[in-house]
Amino acid sequence: MLFQAALCVILLVLMWWWRNRKFIQQYRKLGCTYTALPILGHAHMFIGNREAIMNTFIKFGEEAISRGGVAPLWLVNEYHLCIADALDCEAVLKNYFSKDKLLRMIRLLTGDSFIFAPVEIWKPRRRLMAPLFSVRSTNSFLGVFTRQSTRLAEQLQAAANQGPVALWPFVNAFTLDTACETVLGVELNSQLDNNNPLLVAVDRLVELAGDGLTKFWYQIDFIMKNHPSYRSFMTEQAIIQQFIDESIKEKEEKSHTIAMNPNTKEFFSLEDESRPVSLLEKLIQSVSAAGARAEALGLLLAAAGSAAAALAFTLLMLARHPAVQDKLYQELREVFGEDSARPVTLVDLQRLKYLEAVVRETLRLFPPAANIVREAHRDLTLPSGVEVLKGTNLILSIWGVQRNPKYWGPDAHEFRPERFLEGPLEHQSAFLAFSSGPRGCPGAQYASMVTKTAAATLLRRYRVRPLQHGPLRLLFSVTLKEIDNFTVSLQSRI
Ligand code: HEM
Repeated sequence: MLFQAALCVILLVLMWWWRNRKFIQQYRKLGCTYTALPILGHAHMFIGNREAIMNTFIKFGEEAISRGGVAPLWLVNEYHLCIADALDCEAVLKNYFSKDKLLRMIRLLTGDSFIFAPVEIWKPRRRLMAPLFSVRSTNSFLGVFTRQSTRLAEQLQAAANQGPVALWPFVNAFTLDTACETVLGVELNSQLDNNNPLLVAVDRLVELAGDGLTKFWYQIDFIMKNHPSYRSFMTEQAIIQQFIDESIKEKEEKSHTIAMNPNTKEFFSLEDESRPVSLLEKLIQSVSAAGARAEALGLLLAAAGSAAAALAFTLLMLARHPAVQDKLYQELREVFGEDSARPVTLVDLQRLKYLEAVVRETLRLFPPAANIVREAHRDLTLPSGVEVLKGTNLILSIWGVQRNPKYWGPDAHEFRPERFLEGPLEHQSAFLAFSSGPRGCPGAQYASMVTKTAAATLLRRYRVRPLQHGPLRLLFSVTLKEIDNFTVSLQSRI
């Protein structure tokens, strides 16, 4: 009996070795500082809390940099390459589009949305969705961004001059309210009520998905579906989906009030031309109510989550770099005049060059999507000469690329917004916060506008002060977070 069991194990190991021999050979050739354990590979390094997991991702990004841009690793029986070279990432993003196998839990998060959908679903949908993200469409949301930013500034008033304030709950409600209005065309007002049921459900859903991402055993269908978190996840998702369904029903009933301008190909409201048409209404017109239902949840979460991280990190960086904040305040005074609280305009946004550099520098050092993934469906030789073998799982370390001294120089880890004002980047793909290629972020302009509008509104009213100075402690989740909920202190300027 024992002999038969031993024989079975030996056979299984031999089969695994035979199937993975190309990967094993490459792993030996490329080399890795960290020990791969039998069966687990490097998965043991990804066990722990979210801070520990983020630190492991950082270690592999640095490992890739130290080996010329690419480091191999094993997660259980799956072979991965972690890439932190800009040109290699660019080649990957141009050639591979599939990411669905690796992101099971997060795919549950966004439902049938094209964001994490298999390539055959993603490709035609992406084409249909492109007009939703046109410059004109995004610009039409400026009124929403300014109104919600003013509300954010007012909500923070009670916390000003009072000691520590955790920015995350404020910023999180702000971006959810903004996303609800632009994506669904619904005024949520969660900034005024932190027990708002949708806000609570979205927060819980994102928390659970973050948990799911950090536990590799959730990759096993049976374990995931029988875990209590899965049931909670489904409950929260049903609450959000019901909210979306009600919005769709209401917009569908009023769809005759929306028309398309034949010249600009943009939709407008026949009842009130100044009202911005939400992405949901545009989807109902251009795709169908069913198509809109499939995409709404993904869009809502994409628009809310990463933008919140971008704004919160920007404010935290400004708090920690008073000279940068002073320089930015000077720019705000030049553009808005002294003591002006007027709403931000499109012309202002174009003139706020230093603010743009501050936001980009923040996204460089703290990319909300710190890693993105792809699956290699065929062989490819990267510009660095490394062969990507069919079947390899690719982890693109955006964190690593954006801190790689080869592209950013010896001060790559320093917060220095001026680097974005010193002429165009030599390699555009050294900045990958929004990814690139056909599957890159279509919401980049939206994200930049909402972040800059909120920052320009808040920083004219408050000085942001740091509470700590040491290295930031980061958490790996659906988007990158800071362990203390971005706690700072605020000082009124007016
Ligand atoms: C600072 C804020 C944001 C950041 C850093 C960000 C980052 C990203 C990244 C890195 C990807 C690509 C992932 C990959 O290649 O696997 C992505 C995809 C996407 N983002 Fe964003 N995003 C932000 C804001 C937004 C906003 C505001 C929207 C919508 C209004 C949005 C909508 C999307 C969509 C729909 C995709 C999927 C694209 C596709 O698969 O074709 N994002 N985002």
